[in-house]
Amino acid sequence: MMAREYKIIEKYEEVPNVHKFVIRDPRIAKKAEAGQFVLVMANEKGERIPLTLSNWDKKEGTITLYVLELGVSTMELVALDQGDSLYSLAGPLGNPAKVEKFGSVLIGGGCFGIGGIYPIAKAMKEAGNHVTVIMEARSNYLLYNHQNLDSVSDELYIATADGSSGINGHVQEKYEELVKEGKKFDRAYFMGCTFMLMQCSKATKPHGLPTGVALNAIMLDGTGMCGCCRVSVDGETKFVCVDGPELDGHKVDWDELFIRKHIYREEEAVSYQSHACRSLTGYERDQKKEGGA
Ligand code: FES
Repeated sequence: MMAREYKIIEKYEEVPNVHKFVIRDPRIAKKAEAGQFVLVMANEKGERIPLTLSNWDKKEGTITLYVLELGVSTMELVALDQGDSLYSLAGPLGNPAKVEKFGSVLIGGGCFGIGGIYPIAKAMKEAGNHVTVIMEARSNYLLYNHQNLDSVSDELYIATADGSSGINGHVQEKYEELVKEGKKFDRAYFMGCTFMLMQCSKATKPHGLPTGVALNAIMLDGTGMCGCCRVSVDGETKFVCVDGPELDGHKVDWDELFIRKHIYREEEAVSYQSHACRSLTGYERDQKKEGGA
C-alpha cells in the first residue's frame, strides 16, 4: 500500500491571518461530511490542531481547510508551503452536523468559520431548507468566501465590527434585526470563536431557537480517550471530538469552557513571541516566495 503523504497542493493567505490550504487526501475526501474536522500536525514535534473540513472534492481527492494563525502550532503550519507535506493528518473526525429539513435555517460564521460554514449551508440547502447566512468580520477586508456562500444561501448578510460592510455589529445583532423584521427561523448553527458562539447562543435562547454550535476545544487524540476536549453540556460531561463538534449552544457551560480554553494562554503567548518562525512574517514569506528580499 502506498504511504499517505498529505501533500499541500494549494496554499495562500486568503485574508490577513487566515490561510487556505488544499490538501490531497482521497481517503478523507471520500468520507467527509458537513461539520466534521481533521487533526493536523505540521511537524513531528508539533501539536495536533483540529481544523474544520471547509470543502472537499471527492473526484480530485482533496480537502480544503482554513487556518487562523494564532499561536506556535498554527504558525508552524502556515510556514509550510505549496508542495510541502503535513507530518500527519487524521480524519474525518467528529459527528456530521445535524442536517435535515428544518424549514428556515440561520447559519452564522466568523473568522475561520466563514470558511467552515460553507459545507453546512450547502447540506442544509440540499436538504430543502431556506438558508440565511450571516458572515462576520472585524472589517470588510477580512471577509472571504462570498461566492461559495452566495451559491448555497437564499439570503446572505454581512456584519462588520467597524461598519465597513453590512451592518455595524456582529452576527447576533443582525439576527436580532431580522427577528424584528418578522423573520422566523427553525434552526440555527454557528461557527467561529468561542466568544461569538456564546453571544449568538445567548441571542437565540430567549427566542427558543434550537441552536447548534461548532465548538473548538484543545484536542490531543481526537478519539474521546484523553479527556482534553471535555466540556459540560446541561450538567453532563461531553467530549467535543466524539460527542461534537456540534453541541447545543443553550446548554453549554460557557464559563467553564473559557477557563479551560485559556489555561495555557500565558505559556502560549511567551512561546509565540519567542518562536524562531517569527523571524519570518507571513508577508516576508510571500516576498521570499515571489523572489523578493
Ligand atoms: Fe481527547 Fe477529545 S481530544 S478526548
